[in-house]
Amino acid sequence: MVETSDEWITERTGIKERRIAAADETAASMGAAAGAKALEAAGLKPDDIDTVICATTSSAYAFPSSACEIARLLGIRRAMAFDLAAACAGFSYAYSVAHSMILTGQSEKVLIVGSDLMARACDPTDRTTIILFGDGAGACVLGKSDTEGTIAVHASADPFSGELLSLPVPQRGQSDTPWLYMKGNEVFKRAVVVLAELVTKTLEKGGMSADDLDFLVPHQANLRIIAATARKLHLDMSQVIVTLDKQGNTSAASVPLALDEGVRSGRIKRGDVLLLESFGGGFTWGSALIRY
Ligand code: COA
Repeated sequence: MVETSDEWITERTGIKERRIAAADETAASMGAAAGAKALEAAGLKPDDIDTVICATTSSAYAFPSSACEIARLLGIRRAMAFDLAAACAGFSYAYSVAHSMILTGQSEKVLIVGSDLMARACDPTDRTTIILFGDGAGACVLGKSDTEGTIAVHASADPFSGELLSLPVPQRGQSDTPWLYMKGNEVFKRAVVVLAELVTKTLEKGGMSADDLDFLVPHQANLRIIAATARKLHLDMSQVIVTLDKQGNTSAASVPLALDEGVRSGRIKRGDVLLLESFGGGFTWGSALIRY
């Protein structure tokens, strides 16, 4: 499709494969598939869920939201349901909101879904983006617990750098569909700095040090960014869940997909301390320090 090579992509990004959704898939259909697996893993029925949050910036409809559609597809009949747009940091933002809702007693069981179809948002002739993004969905259920749980969350944004990474929403009457735009090397530099501060701040907030961590579950944008964050924490790469070699950057889906991979492969075990982090367009970033 573009002038590039497997060697360039592997060296600069760590990506070997990506998953591309079928034409009839949507953020909601993929999110529902992920949500069903999360409910099964949690041993819950659809009516146990009182809130559905779908982190996405590629919903097929503004309304009904993908979250409402996911609730419909899963038979969740009595939940508050809404989408949350924070680009690649969407899952971390959603986690933060869900955590607050549980703390205040507003919710008991929140289904958090990250679902995005970014591959189709990329200009097929732009070699700086088309090689990076894949489609995917991941989900988890967050609930109250006395023994496990959230140790600290942090989320923030820099609203003054939005032009470096943007996805215009097509407007009525517009003839061309605008593509995703990214000034890759600028985003790269910023992501490394922000994520280093983010992980440090989150550990401080949780009263922990990097030595307490079992696993880093990072957003999967670029292996060099992930490795830089791991170095900052003095973590061995064996303590980092990496999925981008198989999935590319799946935006809001990447952290829950990595969490899913870590748990289902048996690497992440009950009681492990995990640091989830992500960075995306906006700029937005967020993290969650949790005992699984
Ligand atoms: N194949 C071959 N060459 C490519 C290429 C590709 N797919 N994409 C870019 N290049 C070229 C550029 O044109 C440039 O050529 P030039 O030096 O002749 O001008 C050269 O490679 C270096 O480009 P640069 O953008 O500086 O490369 P990079 O090392 O920063 O890698 C990214 C590019 C996109 C892989 C990297 O910047 C990145 O991962 N950025 C952040 C991604 C991210 O975190 N995104 C979103 C957060 S959610």
